[in-house]
Amino acid sequence: MTTSLHIQSNGAESTQELGRTIGEQVSAGDVILLTGELGAGKTCLTQGIALGLGVEGYVRSPTFVLMTRHHGRLTLHHVDLYRMGSAAEAWDLGLDEQLFSDGICVIEWADRATELFPEDCLWIDLDYGDDPDSRNITVEPGIAVERSRFKKLLESLTKKTSFS
Ligand SMILES: Nc1ncnc2c1ncn2[C@@H]1O[C@H](COP(=O)(O)OP(=O)(O)O)[C@@H](O)[C@H]1O
Ligand SMILES: [Mg+2]
Repeated sequence: MTTSLHIQSNGAESTQELGRTIGEQVSAGDVILLTGELGAGKTCLTQGIALGLGVEGYVRSPTFVLMTRHHGRLTLHHVDLYRMGSAAEAWDLGLDEQLFSDGICVIEWADRATELFPEDCLWIDLDYGDDPDSRNITVEPGIAVERSRFKKLLESLTKKTSFS
C-alpha cells in the first residue's frame, strides 16, 4: 500500500520550508516529480529543495531552457516539462541523463511524461487551497512506502507537523 502525506501550506515560505527539509534529506539518485497547475508552487518548492542542498544563488524555473543544473551538497537537476510536446521529445533531449545521475532530479509538470520515470520516485502534488496563499500538498512515494527509498524521508516529514 502506498501512503500519501497531506500537508497544508499557508504561504510561499511554508512551501519553501517543506522543500528545504526534503533537500536536506535526499540522497544521490533520488527523483522528485512535481505536479500542479501553473502558479501552484512547484518552482517555489524546488527553491526550498535547492536551499536544503546548499545550492547558492536563486533557482528560477527552467521553463525556457528545459533543464538547469545547480551545485550543492549534491547536484540538483531541475527540469520543467511545461513546453514538452511529448514524453518521447523529452527523452530525445536527454532526460535520461538527469534521471539516472548521481545527483538529484526535480521535474516540474512530471505528469506530462509519466512513462519515463523509474517506479520509486517521490510524487508531490500542489493544489490551490481556499485562500490565495494556501496550498494543499500531497507527498506520495511511487511504490509501497515500506519498500521505497523515501521511507525515512516520509517518516521524518510525518513527524514534522507544521511547516508554517
Ligand atoms: N502556499 C504557497 N506555496 C507556494 N507558492 C505560493 C503560496 N502562496 C502563494 N504563493 C505564490 O504562488 C506562486 C507560485 O509560483 P511558482 O512556484 O513559480 O509556481 P509553479 O512553478 O507551480 O508554476 C509564487 O508567486 C508564490 O509567491
Ligand atoms: Mg515552475
